[in-house]
Amino acid sequence: MRTLIAYTTRHGTTLRYAEAMARALSGEVVLTDLRQEPAVDISPFDTVVIGGAVYFGNVSPLLKEFCLSNIEELKRKNLGLFVCCCLDGEQAEKQMQAAYPLELLDAAKVKKTLAGDIDLSRMNLIERLIVKLVERKIPCTGRFNEEAANEFAHMLEAPDL
Ligand SMILES: Cc1cc2nc3c(=O)[nH]c(=O)nc-3n(C[C@H](O)[C@H](O)[C@H](O)COP(=O)(O)O)c2cc1C
Repeated sequence: MRTLIAYTTRHGTTLRYAEAMARALSGEVVLTDLRQEPAVDISPFDTVVIGGAVYFGNVSPLLKEFCLSNIEELKRKNLGLFVCCCLDGEQAEKQMQAAYPLELLDAAKVKKTLAGDIDLSRMNLIERLIVKLVERKIPCTGRFNEEAANEFAHMLEAPDL
């Protein structure tokens, strides 16, 4: 299995999920930050995972653009989709729906919302002030969860029933 994990992150939690999945998956795994390589070629890969960090209710426009410009090919892949976010339950689910085109959500073998982190030590002063302003509306009760990344990888590799 050749896997591409394409992601967007600002503070690194989404990358941590991508790295944990890469460790859990068999075969060759390539990690691509869409900010650095927005037009990565997906044709050499039979499995593609796309993951986006959620800020103010949505993922980066780069991730959306990547999905739209590759949509037909992505539908033919063994596809995994996730968002990394602080909200959970129904609110997280809504963010997942907002992040990806319906056609891709329908085509995906695995789709999950994964718990984000707010790590103030990785943020500059302005970012910390913004966190202070939003923390009541966007409480971050979860934590990076390696087990959830492992489960995502195992589901992606499970044989189709
Ligand atoms: C300014 C700011 C806005 C955020 N907005 C949301 C949001 O709307 N919904 C949500 O679920 N999480 C939100 N979060 C939490 C992030 O999704 C979480 O910190 C995640 O781990 C970020 O991923 P990253 O570390 O890969 O950038 C926000 C965090 C910050 C700092």
